[in-house]
Amino acid sequence: MIQALDTAIQNIEQAGFLDIELDPTLDLFAEIEKLKREKNAVLLAHYYQEPDIQDVADYIGDSLGLAQQAEKTNADMIVFAGVHFMAETAKILNPAKKVVIPDLKAGCSLSDSCPPPLFKKFKEQHPDHVVVSYINCSAGIKALSDVIVTSSNARVIVESFPKDQPIIFAPDKNLGAYINKVTGRNMLLWNGACMVHEIFSLEKITKLKVRHPEAKLIAHPECEEPILRIADYIGSTTGLLKYTQADSSQEYIVATETGILHQMMKASPEKTFIPAPPNNSCACNDCPHMKLNTLEKLYLCMKYELPDITMDEELRLAARKPIERMLEISAKAGL
Ligand code: 13P
Ligand code: SF4
Repeated sequence: MIQALDTAIQNIEQAGFLDIELDPTLDLFAEIEKLKREKNAVLLAHYYQEPDIQDVADYIGDSLGLAQQAEKTNADMIVFAGVHFMAETAKILNPAKKVVIPDLKAGCSLSDSCPPPLFKKFKEQHPDHVVVSYINCSAGIKALSDVIVTSSNARVIVESFPKDQPIIFAPDKNLGAYINKVTGRNMLLWNGACMVHEIFSLEKITKLKVRHPEAKLIAHPECEEPILRIADYIGSTTGLLKYTQADSSQEYIVATETGILHQMMKASPEKTFIPAPPNNSCACNDCPHMKLNTLEKLYLCMKYELPDITMDEELRLAARKPIERMLEISAKAGL
């Protein structure tokens, strides 16, 4: 898969696609809307995308919502403003449709932390375990899994297995540990993590809470345990957004990627949202992969229908099964 991705990137670079200079007076918002109509395209964007991309999207959501939208769309082309594993999931569900992504290099540190050959060996060492994988993984890992989960449905799906069923959970050890805690399970965890959610500083958040005593700390379950332990609410990006809308507090410290603040501020303009501070002075709570996508690249990928996601059919079919299982369980649970 990695090799196929490298070749695709090389092809695009050789075609000079990335060197195209855009007329700065071009109204990209209007052009993108025009392309959507002309090509019967649907634009799906994750909450971690930059605000301009969120504003032009047809649907903004978390990983589960985006997979559900991708499954049911009637569009001819899916434009996926997110990272590679998300667009790949859309392609797995829609082999006949073109799926394009603004930047093919938009990867994911969590997905990269779990290479399929290593994981295959690990799985072989535990033949009595079922494999539950977080959607933030490659098609190669999905193909080795029994069921896929997202941060919205991980608890429900893990609980759908008998209590005594041994489970491997990959690749996020933080989400896995959190699910172990709330379900009382003892899943075997792959040692992967997200570079963005591991960066938050417990010390700085604690000091911030002292300065803002009324503020609630809300955190994504990809964060490390000490952060989750002091959080007032833990949930997926959609869960966090909904919580800020339903809750009566006026101030929140938000421990996840900063892109979500755009929707929080739009939904509750009267409230204050403070990004949780990272443990150094960089803007490390911006995902460098998600933020590779720009409005310009989005326009170009829609215009030229490149880069598009391609994949081996055998791999696609193997990866599809655990995704379908996830979608079925989620639908039954009303998620
Ligand atoms: P959710 O979309 O499930 O909230 O996960 C966040 C994330 O890290 C996506 O890369
Ligand atoms: Fe991957 Fe983390 Fe970026 Fe999400 S925020 S795409 S998990 S690196």
